[in-house]
Amino acid sequence: MATQKFSGPSPYKLPATYPKEDYFHTDYVNNVTLNHDVKPPKKPVVAAIFGLGRAGSIHLTSIINNTRIVLKYVVDDRTERFADLKKYWNFGNDVTLLASSDAQRVYNDKEVNVVFIGSPTWTHHDIVVNSIANNKDVFCEKPIAENIEDTKKCYEAAKSKGRVLFSAFNRRFDPSYRALKNRVRNGEVGHVQILKVTARDSPLPSIDYLKTSGGVFHDCLVHDFDMACWVLGELPCRVQASASALIPEVKAIDDFDTIAFLLTYPSGTVVLGDNSRYSAYGYDQRLEVFGNKGMIKVENERPYHSTQAYIGHEGVKESPIYYSFPSRFREGYKNELEHFLDVVTRGVPMEVTDYQTLAISKIATAAEESARTGKSVELDWSKDGIPANYS
Ligand SMILES: NC(=O)c1ccc[n+]([C@@H]2O[C@H](COP(=O)([O-])OP(=O)(O)OC[C@H]3O[C@@H](n4cnc5c(N)ncnc54)[C@H](O)[C@@H]3O)[C@@H](O)[C@H]2O)c1
Repeated sequence: MATQKFSGPSPYKLPATYPKEDYFHTDYVNNVTLNHDVKPPKKPVVAAIFGLGRAGSIHLTSIINNTRIVLKYVVDDRTERFADLKKYWNFGNDVTLLASSDAQRVYNDKEVNVVFIGSPTWTHHDIVVNSIANNKDVFCEKPIAENIEDTKKCYEAAKSKGRVLFSAFNRRFDPSYRALKNRVRNGEVGHVQILKVTARDSPLPSIDYLKTSGGVFHDCLVHDFDMACWVLGELPCRVQASASALIPEVKAIDDFDTIAFLLTYPSGTVVLGDNSRYSAYGYDQRLEVFGNKGMIKVENERPYHSTQAYIGHEGVKESPIYYSFPSRFREGYKNELEHFLDVVTRGVPMEVTDYQTLAISKIATAAEESARTGKSVELDWSKDGIPANYS
């Protein structure tokens, strides 16, 4: 009786609202109302994918489930797996599997207008340049190339042909990281004083992969550097890093597995990062932004997150965090693909720009130099034409 006065009008009389944070519901509403503003009808792109290892398999999963893409070619050098690949993915005769020695067939095929690259980093430059020379738009796994010079050549080729070259910084398309970035940019925490990024990799990549990865700074830390600059909208003026190789096999190839870094920004913001090649308990990805008005952070996400906790004599046990990048960034990978398709088919401005990719490559090179020399590296952005903001 005492609370009856709060009952209010019938819910049928209330406006139908829901929290926009529920992006799955937004998808559902778009689908159920056939919202053409989100997916205006367009002819599907015709695609080839190079490389079906870890990254390639993630993208293939999204590609074959996406009605905006018709897959025509798969290019990979593990040809002994082709029969099995056909069977597993249920490829019909409309999908041709080729070794990279036959890649010219893809380049010559005028029907193919989009190329996805998930092959090893050292192969990217040639595939990008050949695809663009043959008028194809390119979605390329990061990094675009092994060094800044080759990365520049790839972007110059894209610019001269008027083609899209997208660098797959997938973390930007993760809903939680994106929400954090938008809230920071809207001033919720005020002027950012400290940004902390933790990225500890899982599972441990094979040594064969690490040997051709370009080193941990270019292979892994590029994501952390991009995250920091993307959230802050600024480029650092000083880079310091300290790194060790605690895993003997990593030491043997002169790479690092344990890294701490510090970026100092012209506005006074300081970024602290810690990164590891191997996290025994899962893929540990966290971000915290602290400013003069407050703090926002992204914590680890978990499967079975609705199963809260088990409490026993040993204490409280929660579900494990996501074990790997394919599981933690599953949505991010799908979203980056949708963004690429929007850029290619609808002319939406590309979010990962050429100068951003080049800037990240420069920061990674400086951080590696700092780790190897023990000295901090000052960065001057005026000499290479990279704008000092990072929006
Ligand atoms: N953004 C991310 O989250 C993410 C995660 C992992 C890897 N990557 C990037 O993806 C790329 C591939 O890494 P991976 O871990 O998938 O490697 P991988 O070794 O698991 O797979 C590479 C595949 O490419 C094939 N290949 C080799 N040469 C080729 C060529 N010339 N043409 C076509 N295919 C070829 C190999 O046979 C193999 O199947 C790297 O550039 C890496 O930096 C990005």
